[in-house]
Amino acid sequence: MTYQSAPNRYQVQPYRRCGRSGLQLPSISLGLWHNFGDVDRHATARELLLGAFDRGITHLDLANNYGPPPGSAEQTMGRVLASDLHTHRDDLIISSKAGYDMQPGPYGKGGSRKYLVASLDQSLKRMGLEYVDIFYHHVPDPDTPLEETMGALDYIVRSGRALYVGVSNYPPELTRKAAALLRQLGTPLVIHQPRYSMLVRTIEDGLLDTLAEEGVGCIAFSPLAQGILTDRYLGGEVPADSRAARAAFLKPSDLTAAKLGAVRQLNALAAERGQTLAQMALAWVLRHQGMSSVLVGASRMAQLDDALGALKRPDFSPADLAAIDAALALQHAG
Ligand SMILES: NC(=O)c1ccc[n+]([C@@H]2O[C@H](COP(=O)([O-])OP(=O)(O)OC[C@H]3O[C@@H](n4cnc5c(N)ncnc54)[C@H](OP(=O)(O)O)[C@@H]3O)[C@@H](O)[C@H]2O)c1
Repeated sequence: MTYQSAPNRYQVQPYRRCGRSGLQLPSISLGLWHNFGDVDRHATARELLLGAFDRGITHLDLANNYGPPPGSAEQTMGRVLASDLHTHRDDLIISSKAGYDMQPGPYGKGGSRKYLVASLDQSLKRMGLEYVDIFYHHVPDPDTPLEETMGALDYIVRSGRALYVGVSNYPPELTRKAAALLRQLGTPLVIHQPRYSMLVRTIEDGLLDTLAEEGVGCIAFSPLAQGILTDRYLGGEVPADSRAARAAFLKPSDLTAAKLGAVRQLNALAAERGQTLAQMALAWVLRHQGMSSVLVGASRMAQLDDALGALKRPDFSPADLAAIDAALALQHAG
């Protein structure tokens, strides 16, 4: 059936400015790290992409290595763009990245100009795009001069392959240096993509301040700690269709008794606020003024609808925040 986008899609959620740039992102964005590979059902992936678009989720985040196998999430994106979303290219913010292992040999990972430019060309081919909206260096590479990596990002924008550039997993000082180098080259650092959730709060120790000072936007990845901050594992079981059962990056051994104790306490606090745990976890990430968007994953549409519900109750009183901190302290108990 021919896809018709929902006419009210821009009324579903507020858009937030990305740092000091002109770019606006949806409060909730969708990542294609899991559930969009060749191993996954195409019909479900298509339903998620179109359902997301209908809910104002204009930003879809990819990387060269998402799948499995690596590259196949970009192919899935390309397939749905060709079949359904081709008339909406100008309504979409599509990002990709390179930095982690993509292919064997010296040109398949890192931060060299050679790898970044070639990898992006491959990504564009897989997605059938002329340009991506955002291109990231995925992870710092201590063996490549930062000048070379930032020079490659500048070249990527000037050559028309990307409209904006960002960095991911960069610590505060390196981010500051990257922003300065890019500024000198005339291509601003527009966005940073760090891991951030109630369970991983590293960015509160300097990165958020650095980004505010530099005027760089922030999009938090794994805000639900890959599903731990949802009702997925609350009962202490690992459902067969869950990420902890199926994927390599979340293991049942990550679900320690102390962590689940903290999560159950958080769940009770969320219920008092009239939210699901996932909704409270996302609203908590978005409470920072400098947070441009929150980047969720989903294996089914109900999870995206749950996520969007977070926007109905965004406020936290000092007492709410203190109760959340006290619940989080339980993960270190015992
Ligand atoms: N830059 C980087 O280095 C980096 C690293 C990681 C991720 N990312 C980006 O961030 C995106 C999001 O990461 P993530 O997938 O780890 O995010 P997440 O939102 O923390 O976890 C998503 C997973 O949690 C479960 N879930 C989500 N909503 C739920 C709900 N309402 N109820 C129950 N379970 C729910 C689902 O897993 P199941 O249903 O399968 O159990 C879902 O796939 C990625 O797709 C990628 O774009 C970037």
